[in-house]
Amino acid sequence: MERTLVLLKPDCVQRRLMGRILSRFEEKGFNVIAMKMMQVTPELSKQHYAEHVEKPFYPGLEAFITGAPVVAMIVEGLDVIQVVRDMLGATSGLKAAAGTIRGDFSSSRQMNLVHASDGPEAAAREMGLYFSADEICSYEPTLTPWLRADDE
Ligand code: CMP
Repeated sequence: MERTLVLLKPDCVQRRLMGRILSRFEEKGFNVIAMKMMQVTPELSKQHYAEHVEKPFYPGLEAFITGAPVVAMIVEGLDVIQVVRDMLGATSGLKAAAGTIRGDFSSSRQMNLVHASDGPEAAAREMGLYFSADEICSYEPTLTPWLRADDE
């Protein structure tokens, strides 16, 4: 079982798409085991996007991600890190395949609605940035026997 950090970004909140996008992860069968609405500070933005801080687009990215609340969540499931990345689609909404979240709802490279960790190391780091251990509510869903076979 893997865990990943997902952020519903400020454009998602402002465009009233939170429920529809959260539904995609729920409908897939993943467990949401932590969730909160919060304001990203410039300091948190610099930590989260440390690999992008020196890039020319970073000032715009920081203004965007701190410009309205986000919803942070931890999503759990089998192969969840890669599967959620696939569900999001390519970074740019203009390049993302139809049927992906960005492909269906975004036409922007910056305002691409959702962030998800890109690998196990990033997931561990990003979950630690947004959540403390006591904010994680791990549970065994009662519908697991109807989502996959015992040996999957
Ligand atoms: P995300 O998956 O959260 O990771 C980094 C974010 O930076 C990305 O989504 C976009 O919102 C943004 N981003 C990446 N590349 C560019 C770019 N070339 N110009 C502007 N924003 C970008």
